[in-house]
Amino acid sequence: MLTFSFLTLFPELLAPFASEAILGKAAARGLIHVNLVNMRDFAGNRHAKVDDTPYGGGAGMVIRVDVAERALSSLPPADEVILFTPAGERFTQRTAEELSTRTHLAFLCGRYEGFDARVEGLVTRELSIGDFVTMGGEAAAACVLEAVARLRPGVLGDEDSHRADSFSSGLLDYPEYTRPPEWSGQGVPEVLKGGHHGAVAAWRRGQALARTLSRRPDLLPTAGLTPQDSAHLLALGVTMEQLAEWGAPPPPAPKRVKRRPRAVTTADSEDRSES
Ligand SMILES: C[S@@+](CC[C@H](N)C(=O)[O-])C[C@H]1O[C@@H](n2cnc3c(N)ncnc32)[C@H](O)[C@@H]1O
Repeated sequence: MLTFSFLTLFPELLAPFASEAILGKAAARGLIHVNLVNMRDFAGNRHAKVDDTPYGGGAGMVIRVDVAERALSSLPPADEVILFTPAGERFTQRTAEELSTRTHLAFLCGRYEGFDARVEGLVTRELSIGDFVTMGGEAAAACVLEAVARLRPGVLGDEDSHRADSFSSGLLDYPEYTRPPEWSGQGVPEVLKGGHHGAVAAWRRGQALARTLSRRPDLLPTAGLTPQDSAHLLALGVTMEQLAEWGAPPPPAPKRVKRRPRAVTTADSEDRSES
C-alpha cells in the first residue's frame, strides 16, 4: 500500500483523483490510500488564516511556514516530503519510478506566491512539473499521483502495460491503432493485422526508434540501445559517429554467407574439354 498525503488549501480539487476511474478502484481495493489534509485546519487562529504579506513588500500573499509545519507534524512519518514549486527538480518518469517504491509520500501544495522559503528545511525534495506556472500545487500533485500510482503492482489491469510507455522503455512509445481498419482514407499498417508476434514487436521497436529520433533525440543516449537498434538507426540515416556519441553499441556484424562449392556442370566439363 502506498499512502499519498496531500497538504493543500483546496482538498476538494484533489478528491476526485482518489475516487474516480482507475485510481478510485485502486483506492477501493486498498492498493493506494489518499489522505487529504486541509492546511487551514492547522492555521492556529480563529479566522483560519494561513498566509500573510511578504516581508520586503510586493504583490501577493505567502503561506506561513508554521502552518505547513503543524500540518506535516499531524502525519505519520513520510518517506519523502515533497514541495511543489517551479524552482524544483524537473519531475520525470525516473522520479515516478523511484517514488513508486515508497510507502508514504507527503506533498506540499502551494498557492498564492507559494510558501515561506523556510519550508525548504521541512522537505526532502522539491519538484517542478515543467517550465510554466500554475495557480497552485494541486495540478502538479495530481500529475505526480497519477504517474506514481499507476506503477504500483495491481493498479493497472495489465501489469506489462506501463513497460512500453513513453519514457519507461527509454524511448517514446510506438503508435497504436484500433478499429475501424479504414478511416478517412487512412488504413492500419499491414504488419499489425498479420498476427506474427515477432514481426509486430520488430515493427514497434522500429517505430519507437524512428519517433524518438525525430521528436526527442535527446532521449537516445540513455535509451539502452541494442546492436539491432543501432542497425535500425543507421538505416534511418544516423551516422556511425552519431551512434558513438550516444554511446550506442555497434550494429551486429553482417552475417557471412557460406559459399557452397560450385557443382560441376556438364557445361563446365564441356568448357574444359574444349580448352
Ligand atoms: C502561483 S504559484 C507561485 C509561483 C512562484 N511565485 C514562482 O514564481 O515560483 C503557486 C503554487 O503553484 C505551484 N506550482 C506552480 N507552478 C508549478 C510547477 N511548474 N511545478 C510545480 N508546482 C508549481 C507551487 O506549489 C506554487 O507554490
